[in-house]
Amino acid sequence: MRGGREATAIVAGVRRPSGSGEPALVGPPPRELSLGCPVDYGVSAVQKRLDAFSRHWPLTGQRLLDVGCGNGAYTTVLGRRFDEVHAVDVEPDRIEQFRQQVAGEPKFSVSVGTAESLPFPDDHFDVVSAIEVIEHIVDLDRALDEIRRVLRPGGAFLVSCPNRLFPLETHTITVGDRFYPARRVPFLPYVKPLHRRLSTARNFTRLDLAEAVCRDGLRVVAWDWVMPPLDHWRIGRRQLLAMMGWLERSPLRIFGVSIIAVFEKVG
Ligand SMILES: C[S@@+](CC[C@H](N)C(=O)[O-])C[C@H]1O[C@@H](n2cnc3c(N)ncnc32)[C@H](O)[C@@H]1O
Repeated sequence: MRGGREATAIVAGVRRPSGSGEPALVGPPPRELSLGCPVDYGVSAVQKRLDAFSRHWPLTGQRLLDVGCGNGAYTTVLGRRFDEVHAVDVEPDRIEQFRQQVAGEPKFSVSVGTAESLPFPDDHFDVVSAIEVIEHIVDLDRALDEIRRVLRPGGAFLVSCPNRLFPLETHTITVGDRFYPARRVPFLPYVKPLHRRLSTARNFTRLDLAEAVCRDGLRVVAWDWVMPPLDHWRIGRRQLLAMMGWLERSPLRIFGVSIIAVFEKVG
């Protein structure tokens, strides 16, 4: 089972930073390494992933749930055309930041909670999203059971997650009792057993994802990929973005940084 074995590696594999000059850091785990960091508000990563979803599913409806919403940078944009927007994340500071962003907007309901135990009725949401989250969830099987439960028949589950075919690791890696800040480690994602041992987050192929998600009435609607949004890239960004756009329109998009998947609950 993917959830149990990898969960142990993820939880055990993180350590606390000890200084700024050294690449390797030691000590007990900082939560943010195993939980993952949200994007900033207003960056192009948000539009890029949401555009990819919208090519395959209408981003509108009565109720949206964003699982692992972080600071809500995606949720606020994704939720524009929903009547009710619910969002949960395990990290209270991020939820507080999100609450401040949407203060005075009653359609947003934002709470601290875990994907493994969603406080919502069965068959409740038109769309459930998990954007760069499932790679961090400790008990992924249980979380996916919960997501299937709260999604209504005919509703969609939108996933963006790290692509195993992307040649660079973008998460922190651990070696022994040291961890290395998010440096790009070439080809580590291709070496599955090593990746499982060293990375603080999972990655997925289409097959992994389909195997994990497609149970109890969920079926694949569409696969897509996005190339790196390069939001924090300074030198030659315009040219690189043009190249990324070209790659996204070519068959080479399967090597993109994230898999974009849309699933539908049938029956
Ligand atoms: C990489 S961040 C992505 C946040 C946001 N979706 C975004 O893309 O900006 C992963 C988020 O998942 C949250 N998370 C991790 N495990 C979770 C769990 N079991 N239940 C709910 N949230 C979780 C983390 O706290 C973190 O905010």
